[in-house]
Amino acid sequence: MSPTIRAIVMTLDFVYVRRRVETGTRLPTAVAGGLLDPGAGERLACLRQIFDAVGYTGPAARAALGAELGPSYRRADLPLYLERLTAATPLNTLIKVFGLFLWVDEAELRAAVAPLEPDELVALGVVERSGHRVRAAVGLSARSDVLLAHDRYDTEAPDPSRDHVLGVNTAAVTLESLTVRRRVRSALDLGCGGGIQALFAARHSEHVIAVDKNPRALDFTRFNAQLNGLRNVEGRQGDLFEPVAGLRFDLIVCNPPYVISPESRYTFRDSGRRGDALCEDVVRRAPAHLEEGGFATILCNWTLRAGEEWSAPLRRWVEGSGCDAWLLRGATQDPLTYAAVWNRGPDGAAYADALARWQRYFREIGVAAVGMGGVILRRRTAAQNWVRADDLPGNPAEPCGEQIQHIFRVEDYLRGLGDDARLLDRAFSVAEGQRLRQTLAPRGTEYVVEEAEVELRGGLAFRGTVDAYGFHLLRQCDGRRPLREVVTELARLGGVDVDALAATVIGVVRRLIAFGFLLPVDPKLGRTTEGREEET
Ligand SMILES: C[S@@+](CC[C@H](N)C(=O)[O-])C[C@H]1O[C@@H](n2cnc3c(N)ncnc32)[C@H](O)[C@@H]1O
Repeated sequence: MSPTIRAIVMTLDFVYVRRRVETGTRLPTAVAGGLLDPGAGERLACLRQIFDAVGYTGPAARAALGAELGPSYRRADLPLYLERLTAATPLNTLIKVFGLFLWVDEAELRAAVAPLEPDELVALGVVERSGHRVRAAVGLSARSDVLLAHDRYDTEAPDPSRDHVLGVNTAAVTLESLTVRRRVRSALDLGCGGGIQALFAARHSEHVIAVDKNPRALDFTRFNAQLNGLRNVEGRQGDLFEPVAGLRFDLIVCNPPYVISPESRYTFRDSGRRGDALCEDVVRRAPAHLEEGGFATILCNWTLRAGEEWSAPLRRWVEGSGCDAWLLRGATQDPLTYAAVWNRGPDGAAYADALARWQRYFREIGVAAVGMGGVILRRRTAAQNWVRADDLPGNPAEPCGEQIQHIFRVEDYLRGLGDDARLLDRAFSVAEGQRLRQTLAPRGTEYVVEEAEVELRGGLAFRGTVDAYGFHLLRQCDGRRPLREVVTELARLGGVDVDALAATVIGVVRRLIAFGFLLPVDPKLGRTTEGREEET
């Protein structure tokens, strides 16, 4: 065994995927107006039941299409999807109409939506007719069992309108995954778009306020609340926090138009020639709208000067906020790569022109790189707040709320511990749901552990490597013996000085706790406390 334990290094393989741009026509007034029609509620409930019954909101749709229904409108793959959808089933018809926006015969739609009539879907504003053919007036995307109406991807007018309302998109899924889900009284979805975050929050919040400056977004949000049988979502139109002045929330979620560019082309995308000022504004103002103990998750892009450490701007934004802050980076991109991600398209000349324009803008405002990720805040006034910065271990796509709360608890625990001697007196157990993979190397007549990789399963799948000492340490943390005993045993086995080993081990153990591999155990209770005993 080597006499040192290498610091655990968390790997970074997060790719911040460009938000897929869906295009569409204007929201048919019938959609907004339909909600005022007393019969519309019943028809919507029936429509929802039909979509659930055929499997549009479940895994069946993904299986039929071979891709996610939400963000995967890859037009180039249309022939492939059509091959997959040849069987005449109601599910395939609904995917063709509301997922791929194809014209179909009215008779085909009638068979798929019975007992509703195509006329009723036209009245609801979700379908439009031309002769005997019909097509979707809006897109319908599913994320778990949430069904979301949004603007359509329009092959005839591929450039989205300025006030386009997004469907399920990669960033929305990231935010939804990074949201703390606890039963709370109040939640705010800032920049709600079609309301995807508000709808998820409405399941565990008494009341949700959804804010957007685009009135069409609020029409969609109200429509979607009804489509999903939710009565506790209130839409308010206006700029950022203005419509909720003076109000505080237990939860704030925000997927702002964070793209840093010389453009003001899309309300849903562009920060509007203000560098990263819009994201900074949201992060700086959110704490004043958080209840004590409340969480906010805000997706951000931020500008970096040459040589600037990636978290430096975010640290400035959260300084003195009265919140603990977990800063998360998905990726850092140079200006050219960033410009390419947001401008890539079939028109080569327009693409080249955009690359030049965007780079010129970045040079003008002195940007050397762009950071992408998010900020999670927890309000804790009258306390010594902490700030922690980590790389995201991939693009989160499943609920991480429990894990986020755990990370906040153990960070409190570690900061509250004070000196390292107290850590050596504590016992730890290994968290379930992690995997330890070892590499063995021959040494004489036996194989010895050369290196081991630890990895969390599910949620934020942090991983890192530990050497032979780290491997044995993890195996011996049984929740009963204090760390000091474990280290003494390891030193004896390795023939190294116990104090020297302890000094190295402490740093690794702190990181293993901080990322959720090791759990503090209450010596009296004999079970994990996740750091709760240190909270008071
Ligand atoms: C990236 S989209 C997010 C939509 C949705 N929340 C999601 O997660 O997919 C950003 C939204 O912010 C809205 N928005 C842009 N600027 C705003 C502002 N100054 N105040 C309020 N909303 C704004 C846009 O209209 C758009 O709906």
